[in-house]
Amino acid sequence: MVRRVTAPILSSTRTPRVLVVGVGASPLVAELLRFGHHVVAVDIASAALEALVGVLGKWAAALADGQLELVVADVRSLRLDQSVDVWHDRAVFHFLIEPADRAAYAEAAAAAVTSGGHLVMATFAPDGPTSCSGLAVTRHDAGSLGATFAPHFELVESFEVDHVTPWGSTQRFTHALFRRA
Ligand SMILES: C[S@@+](CC[C@H](N)C(=O)[O-])C[C@H]1O[C@@H](n2cnc3c(N)ncnc32)[C@H](O)[C@@H]1O
Repeated sequence: MVRRVTAPILSSTRTPRVLVVGVGASPLVAELLRFGHHVVAVDIASAALEALVGVLGKWAAALADGQLELVVADVRSLRLDQSVDVWHDRAVFHFLIEPADRAAYAEAAAAAVTSGGHLVMATFAPDGPTSCSGLAVTRHDAGSLGATFAPHFELVESFEVDHVTPWGSTQRFTHALFRRA
């Protein structure tokens, strides 16, 4: 199922700056570059960023052009020189099982996203997996996410969806869109 958010989240006249945290080798990056966005790709693992470059194909040229930045960092302590319009997380936040780590994540996002910008979150839902890659995870609904990201972000909309993995299992995700105050 594809669901489109009803609120426009990139309406500025300058080149939008999109941060993808815990990027892995996500195909989202090539799509964002194709749309002309500036992308800040963040991962705690340099090997993940190397894998990303490996799947970018012709879009790897964006590195030399300065349209793509690669940042090796732990999201919990991430601080950028320049703010971003959108913060995107798919399948990273649920690895933070300590409340202090989720609070540090929320502070990093608040520091990074410009006022009026957005945070896009996809994380395991309350009836989603209890572990991933052998690691414990936390599961969230719109309420627990809203509490984590308040007061800097307000919830715009949310929904849950079943993600079918390449190996055929179903994972329930909560998707949420927040606006930076
Ligand atoms: C399950 S993968 C998701 C990759 C990608 N977002 C996707 O949807 O395909 C999680 C990624 O988050 C990264 N990661 C885990 N903890 C992190 C942290 N504290 N800070 C930054 N990246 C982290 C991992 O290295 C990994 O690439």
